[in-house]
Amino acid sequence: MATLGELASQRAGLSAGATDHLGRLIASWSLLADLSFSDMVLMARTAGGTPSESFIVLGQLRPNNRSTMINDDLVGTTHRPEDWPLVREAFERGERVVGEAPVGEIGPVPVWCVPVRYDDAVVAVMVRLQGPLRGPASLYEQAYLSIFERLCDMVADATFPFREDDVAGPGMPRVGDGIMLLDARGSIEFATPNAANALHRLGIYASSEGRTLPELGLRVRVVERSLAYAIPAMEEIDRGHDVAILFQSVPLLAHQAVTGVLILLRDVSDLRHLNRMVLNKEAAVREVHHRVKNNLQTISSLLRLQARRSDEEETRVALLEAERRVRSIAVVHEVLSREPGEEVVFDEIVRSLVMLVEDTVLALHPVEIVVNGELGTLSTDLATPLAVALAELLTNAVEHAFTEFDDVDQGHVGVVTLNLRVDADTAVAEIRDNGRGLGEEFSLEVPTSLGLSIVRDIIRAQLHGTIEMRSIDPALGGGTYVRVAVPTQSPA
Ligand SMILES: Nc1ncnc2c1ncn2[C@@H]1O[C@H](COP(=O)(O)OP(=O)(O)OP(=O)(O)O)[C@@H](O)[C@H]1O
Ligand SMILES: [Mg+2]
Repeated sequence: MATLGELASQRAGLSAGATDHLGRLIASWSLLADLSFSDMVLMARTAGGTPSESFIVLGQLRPNNRSTMINDDLVGTTHRPEDWPLVREAFERGERVVGEAPVGEIGPVPVWCVPVRYDDAVVAVMVRLQGPLRGPASLYEQAYLSIFERLCDMVADATFPFREDDVAGPGMPRVGDGIMLLDARGSIEFATPNAANALHRLGIYASSEGRTLPELGLRVRVVERSLAYAIPAMEEIDRGHDVAILFQSVPLLAHQAVTGVLILLRDVSDLRHLNRMVLNKEAAVREVHHRVKNNLQTISSLLRLQARRSDEEETRVALLEAERRVRSIAVVHEVLSREPGEEVVFDEIVRSLVMLVEDTVLALHPVEIVVNGELGTLSTDLATPLAVALAELLTNAVEHAFTEFDDVDQGHVGVVTLNLRVDADTAVAEIRDNGRGLGEEFSLEVPTSLGLSIVRDIIRAQLHGTIEMRSIDPALGGGTYVRVAVPTQSPA
């Protein structure tokens, strides 16, 4: 389907300026359709067309507040002047022409044909097709129609649409949301019930008629701007955290002078509330991590209690191991609860892990844990499993490396070093101890025990990394060397 721009410039031969003017009219004319409860059609004269198709429809709009009378899409269709004599008259006379025209099967309906002026020329005619009246117009309907009439005069005067801003469209208040009409001095001539409700929500209960907004204790800058400079604008007025009212101020002009202001009001309190909830999302995520951490700590203390009750040593150890594993996961959530996000500062996790290992393993032998370097920030998807794997390896070093030194060599101090660095896109962690080293029969590939199975699974299968484990030559101090390397960018 052709756009308004194509139709206006190619079919109607209008200038870029005129095309732009009509585009802005269409962006704002739902205000006109709603105020008049009418279907709107915008017609231009075809350029160089045959006499039998001299009008082309550039735009069509149905009212929001009553049913349409035109089911067909008329945009792009051409019409003979003799079918639309009122439109022809409006073009020729350059004045509003009011009468009746037949619409489909409905028969004759009241029609207004309003010349759309731009640069002193009538570039189009805006046709308002009024639906059948449902009884006599109410007081409000009459008021709506009188505003509509003033806006039609502005269309013919080239003062509507506004150059500065559209006055209708997505997110903007509509006629049904509530309207107020001010006179040229800013006194309120009338306010619809919805507008009165909006004022109530702002704490204004005094009768508004005949008073100005400042007299009611309300300062709306955009209304002052409209009165003084004939500029439309929008402003949100808040009352506390719970109430937010959107004011759309539309200056009404006659002969280039401001004769009044139309204000459309919309209660957007609920919308603002939603916005605030989104802003609070971060706090909510933090809270969730906090709760996960708390739950994990609860599980870990249950396991500890159960371990204490168990008479069998094997069961007791197994339960305590499980408890430590749960706690190493809790460490990550603890850090995330302080600064939630997709990424986490891994060094904080390392600090907590070291403390965790230090006070879990009650080694008889004195052991020092030294951390060198850092991994910076890592994605949470990587940080959690990596933390669990490192906790296993540190625990192993503290638990197994120094068993033979216990009583024999009192002078020996166990040292476990954790070296961390990022090489290109790889996070590397090296764990070294100066203990007894791995036994002859040790193989990383066939651990029957849980600890190293977890590490293998996490590093290789889950994080697509590598792991290496070997004894250090006694000539070089002895002990065990473990190297873990994982890509920091997860494969897409
Ligand atoms: N740093 C180390 N120094 C000496 N021996 C080690 C070291 N790390 C691991 N080992 C040996 O490897 C074995 C397997 O370790 P793994 O962590 O899988 O099991 P575990 O620590 O015995 O039990 P758990 O399942 O509770 O971790 C250990 O029992 C230990 O003999
Ligand atoms: Mg272990």
